[in-house]
Amino acid sequence: MAEKESKKELKKKLKKKEDKKAAKREKKSLMKLQRMIVTNLDVYYGDFLAVQDVNMEIRPKAVTAIIGPSGCGKSTFLRTLNRMHEITPSASVQGSVQLEGVDLYSDDVDPVEVRRHIGYVFQRPNPFPHLSIQENILAGIRLNKQKLSKEEENELVISCLKNVNLYKEVKDKLNQPATSLSGGQQQRLCIARAIAVKPNVLLMDEPCSALDPISTRSIEDLIVSLKSQFTIVIVTHNMQQAQRISDWCAFFNVTATGEPGRLVELDKTDTIFNSPNKKATSDYINGRFG
Ligand SMILES: Nc1ncnc2c1ncn2[C@@H]1O[C@H](COP(=O)(O)OP(=O)(O)O)[C@@H](O)[C@H]1O
Ligand SMILES: [Mg+2]
Repeated sequence: MAEKESKKELKKKLKKKEDKKAAKREKKSLMKLQRMIVTNLDVYYGDFLAVQDVNMEIRPKAVTAIIGPSGCGKSTFLRTLNRMHEITPSASVQGSVQLEGVDLYSDDVDPVEVRRHIGYVFQRPNPFPHLSIQENILAGIRLNKQKLSKEEENELVISCLKNVNLYKEVKDKLNQPATSLSGGQQQRLCIARAIAVKPNVLLMDEPCSALDPISTRSIEDLIVSLKSQFTIVIVTHNMQQAQRISDWCAFFNVTATGEPGRLVELDKTDTIFNSPNKKATSDYINGRFG
C-alpha cells in the first residue's frame, strides 16, 4: 500500500518537473517572437523616481525612436528593456516589461538570457580593443558558451559583417585589432557583434552621436535595412534622424529637474511630427523648448 502511494507521489513529482520544463521551453520559444509590451513601469535610482508610469507597445520588426529633452529618462528607460538598468547599484523597477507575453522581470527569467534576446548598442563604439575584428564578432558566442566549428564561425563572421555592410571594407584584415577601424566602422562592428548571437530586439542609445555625418548616414541606412529582421528601439536627440529612420516615435518629457520623466505621446512618426495630439509634443518638435 505504502509502496503504491510512494509510486504515485513519484509520478506526480515527475509530472510536475516535466510541466515546469515544458513551461520553460515555451517561454524560451515565445521569446523568439518580437513584440514588447511595457506596463505601468516605474524606474528608480535608489529613492529617486527617474521615469514614471510608462505604458507602451513596441511593434515587432519596426523602428521605434525615443525622443525628448536631455534628462527626461530616455537612456534609463531603454536600459530597462533588457534588464541592464539593474546593473547600476541601487537601481530598481516596478511594473512589467514583456517580450511576447513573457515578463522579463519574472523570478524564473535569467537576466543573461534576456540580454541575449535583446541586444544593446552603446552611444560610443566600444569594441573589445584587445580583440581582432573577427574575435569581436565571436565574443558573444564565446560568452554564451555556444560551440561552433571553425567553419561555422567563419560563416557567422562573414554573414554578420555582410549584414552590417562592413564585409567589403574589412575582409582582408579580419585578424587586425578592432581599434584599427574608423569610428563609423567600429560602430558597425559593434552592431555586428550584437546581432551575432541572433537577438530578437536591438536597443541603441544614440548610436551615431559620436560619428561624422557620413558614418551617421551609413548607420541610419543600416538600421532601416535591419528592421526586417529585428525589432529596433533607438534613442536619438536628432529629430531629423527620428524622422528619417523610425516608424513609431515616443516622446518623453520631464517638467522640472527632480521630477520623473514620462512618456507623453507614442504614435506613428509621421503623426508625431505632423499632427501630434499633445501640446508638449508639438512645442518640443517645433523647438519651443528642450
Ligand atoms: N546612474 C544614475 N544614478 C542616479 N541618477 C541617474 C543615473 N543615471 C541617470 N540618472 C538620472 O535619471 C534621470 C534620467 O537620466 P537619463 O536616463 O540619462 O536621461 P536622458 O537619456 O533622457 O538624457 C536624470 O535625472 C539623471 O540625472
Ligand atoms: Mg541618454
